[in-house]
Amino acid sequence: TSSKTESKVVLLGDSGVGKSSLLWRFDRGEFNENHEVTIGGAYLEKKVALSNEKMVVLNIWDTAGQDRFLSLMPMYYRNSTAAIIVYDVSNQHSFSRVQYWVKTLKDQVPDCLLYLVGNKADKEPKMVDEFVAKDFATANGMDWLETSAKSALNVDLLFKRVAEGVEKV
Ligand code: GTP
Ligand code: MG
Repeated sequence: TSSKTESKVVLLGDSGVGKSSLLWRFDRGEFNENHEVTIGGAYLEKKVALSNEKMVVLNIWDTAGQDRFLSLMPMYYRNSTAAIIVYDVSNQHSFSRVQYWVKTLKDQVPDCLLYLVGNKADKEPKMVDEFVAKDFATANGMDWLETSAKSALNVDLLFKRVAEGVEKV
């Protein structure tokens, strides 16, 4: 028998960490060097086939990282099955922001699956130690990956893991 799961997924994290770029890479297989700031939120539906029988529809909300949009965020993360919390491995400040989002999600959407993503893994020097990030993820029950929207490293893998996660919920 075949099955189809539909789930709401939200992308959160500081402005400029590459949330939209990850989606662009996943959806179009392309990368844009320019930062086109997301205003509010943007929606993308993506189907992920886990097998011939299992199809997962991800209803993905890409959010705006700029502080001026913070009051809109509850609308995007409410009722989410999974949240992808993104930082930039070359920017320590973007990692401190992760703690805010993890706390907020745990308070507001307690059953939400949490994925921690260190994007821009192609960049040097790396300012966020991968062991520190991994330990933080483990301590908070999150899956963790480093990605690059530029080189495509682990981008398909990330969304496959999210699809596998929400399919089990
Ligand atoms: P907001 O919409 O403001 O929240 O930002 P965002 O998180 O959507 O960031 P966006 O995807 O617009 O990317 C910001 C900048 O980082 C752009 O100039 C991208 O080209 C660049 N960028 C994104 N991902 C990567 C990456 O993996 N590697 C490198 N080197 N640059 C990246
Ligand atoms: Mg964006």
